[in-house]
Amino acid sequence: MPIQGTRSGARGKEIFAWGSIAIGAVLVVAACSKPLPEEGSAAAELYRQRCGTCHRPVSPSSMKFALWRMMLPRMEERMRQAGQPPLSNEERTTLESYLERNGG
Ligand code: HEC
Repeated sequence: MPIQGTRSGARGKEIFAWGSIAIGAVLVVAACSKPLPEEGSAAAELYRQRCGTCHRPVSPSSMKFALWRMMLPRMEERMRQAGQPPLSNEERTTLESYLERNGG
């Protein structure tokens, strides 16, 4: 689909489209749980711990890092709503660099 409209409008559509794809990705990931990249590392453990409680940890390669960066605040909001402790700055940095290294 051609992306038209203002810069911010196009961006919104892109996020929306990727969100729909990502929902599919969650279902696929849930069906067959693959090992995470860097399995056994502190970063992978943290990812599983903080990002695998409400749903299976979504495969980092399923999205570009630019999209992960937009996803993290949304997930932090979900954590807040669920009464889970917020990510510390250190945890956020670890998860961001983990997703940056392993993003699709
Ligand atoms: C408190 C529960 C909770 C935690 C913790 C959580 N998520 Fe989610 N996640 C959700 C819910 C609910 C949805 C579906 C609704 C939505 O997309 O906001 C979701 C959806 C997703 C999706 C699908 C994309 C989409 O548009 O729906 C991805 C990718 C994702 N989460 C990644 C993460 C990552 C990465 C972390 C760790 C930083 C994380 N989640 C932690 C609740 C959580």
